[in-house]
Amino acid sequence: MLGNHTVNPPVVLAPMAGITNVAFRRLCREQGGGVYVCEMITTRALVERIPKTLKMIAFAEDEGFRSLQLYGVDPDVTAAAVRMVGEHNLADHVDLNFGCPVPKVTRRGGGSALPWRRKLFGRIVRQAVEAASAYGIPLTIKMRKGIDEDHLTYVEAGLTAQDAGVAAVALHARTAEQRYSGEADWDAIATLKQALDVPVLGNGDIWEGSDALRMVAHTGVDGVVVGRGCLGRPWLFADLEAAFTQGAGYQPVLPTLGEVAKIMSRHAQLLVEALEDERHGCADFRKHVAWYLKGFPVGGDLRRSLAMTSSLTELDDLLAKLDPAIPFPPESLGQPRGRINAPGKVSLPHGWLDSRDDDIVPEGAEMEDSGG
Ligand SMILES: Cc1cc2nc3c(=O)[nH]c(=O)nc-3n(C[C@H](O)[C@H](O)[C@H](O)COP(=O)(O)O)c2cc1C
Repeated sequence: MLGNHTVNPPVVLAPMAGITNVAFRRLCREQGGGVYVCEMITTRALVERIPKTLKMIAFAEDEGFRSLQLYGVDPDVTAAAVRMVGEHNLADHVDLNFGCPVPKVTRRGGGSALPWRRKLFGRIVRQAVEAASAYGIPLTIKMRKGIDEDHLTYVEAGLTAQDAGVAAVALHARTAEQRYSGEADWDAIATLKQALDVPVLGNGDIWEGSDALRMVAHTGVDGVVVGRGCLGRPWLFADLEAAFTQGAGYQPVLPTLGEVAKIMSRHAQLLVEALEDERHGCADFRKHVAWYLKGFPVGGDLRRSLAMTSSLTELDDLLAKLDPAIPFPPESLGQPRGRINAPGKVSLPHGWLDSRDDDIVPEGAEMEDSGG
């Protein structure tokens, strides 16, 4: 449950900057049930009504439960942004991002650095919940385990958020230092689940429907949040629904290359519609090509050409060169995809770790765009 909304199956498409726009969400939503979160929006840009930001808050008419993620570091600005969401009926659910490990953000005390400043974190979440509840909007938070293994924050931050009245807490079970490397620590998710009464959502390394079942069995979480696993595989949401309804014996969707090509063409078409510009839509689609073709025997030249198209006709002509009968490569199942970068020391403002109870709003930590 998120507020009054039942999430069935208990699956959330993780917010991913540059990916989970209205086009990608439609492709995923068509596959199965769940909550499909929009790309992250910066609270300051929303409050300042930056046109590019307002355009990013786009939902299809048939999106029954419009889920929006906000990023903020200032309690007042965050509350103002949430009020704006309520006043203008921009979304049905708001999630706050405390997981971004990008150096330019943590260096200023934002994203995954922020929960360390526990009073400031508490103020942001309390004010946001207060603003959201005036409109009946459930508010959730998404965070990491902490800055690094010596500076973990997730249990304390989860309890603070629960006290503030959040509808659920999602944990990406990595530290900021880990970025996207190594394996997510599902034991930490179990620890958080035991510590909290509000629903806990587990995030990290769900590549297949079976992984979602394993995470639930291992941690007792109320739901799963799925990010990179669906890159180039929107049908993962069909697998997740099948896994949750049929159990471990579900049949995974294994599209042939011809079926994948049809989805690729549709994805590009939807992006062109969403961005209202063919060149721009096709350019945005390029980053998805390698994910869709992962593991399929497709030559380098054709792959490169597919990742450089500027029109839908050009894309479709190239897709027609793929052998439609090639079966889905089973060896790519269960494999990481998307970002898998190396760990890195977390850049923090001077003296950040020594002053947990300082609640001055960090300056310059509002980013234009993001990552989690
Ligand atoms: C390209 C990309 C963009 C992301 N952008 C965001 C974001 O805007 N907000 C956020 O909370 N997390 C963001 N994340 C993190 C994911 O939501 C998720 O927590 C992370 O990928 C771990 O889950 P996974 O193992 O299922 O991928 C992003 C991840 C990727 C790969």
